[in-house]
Amino acid sequence: MNNIEQSNKPSIVVLASGNGSNFQVLAEKSLSGELIANVRALIVDRACGAIERAKKLGIEVIILSKPWYEDFEKVINDLKPDLVVLAGFMRIIPEHIVAKYFPRIVNIHPSLLPAFPGKDAIKQAYDYGVKVTGITIHFVDAGVDTGPIIFQKAIEIEESWDLETLESKIHELEHENYWRVINNLLQKPHKIEGRKVKWGV
Ligand code: GAR
Repeated sequence: MNNIEQSNKPSIVVLASGNGSNFQVLAEKSLSGELIANVRALIVDRACGAIERAKKLGIEVIILSKPWYEDFEKVINDLKPDLVVLAGFMRIIPEHIVAKYFPRIVNIHPSLLPAFPGKDAIKQAYDYGVKVTGITIHFVDAGVDTGPIIFQKAIEIEESWDLETLESKIHELEHENYWRVINNLLQKPHKIEGRKVKWGV
């Protein structure tokens, strides 16, 4: 792909705080052309595994310095991405930033919200003994995993599964679906009415 084609693509930035497996899938799908957006940068708030993955893929890494949210705002203002994609970014976005960018920030969460928000959602669900869990992709508002829901996918937990098995099944679901949902958001008309995300309108 030449530079002109590349620059005509929508652009996204991905934010991560941890391992970065979701970031890596998004970056690879972008490079293969399956994700229609260009991954402009990986943005992190700490030293984490995602950085090495970005370096291997030749994607710019921006490390936010303190206070992270001032830097975050500046970076978003400079890069002007079409969509800000949180992928394991373990920070609550301050209300004034959400107000400025809503609905252009999305997040993925490893449970069927509103069940098990916050940290360690897979373990929360596993320990609770639910029979069905899953993933949620949602617009980011000022709460913790509370924004309007774009997409959910459920999975039945089999009795033989340990926590590690469930974690890998959930990550598989995330990797299969996040890039597809981002493609939809960038290509298909949609609107948000209250808490409801409606397509094709
Ligand atoms: C993912 O499971 C994501 O859903 C979760 O962090 C993990 C990051 O994994 N996010 C949250 O819990 C947000 N509340 P990764 O770094 O390998 O992509």
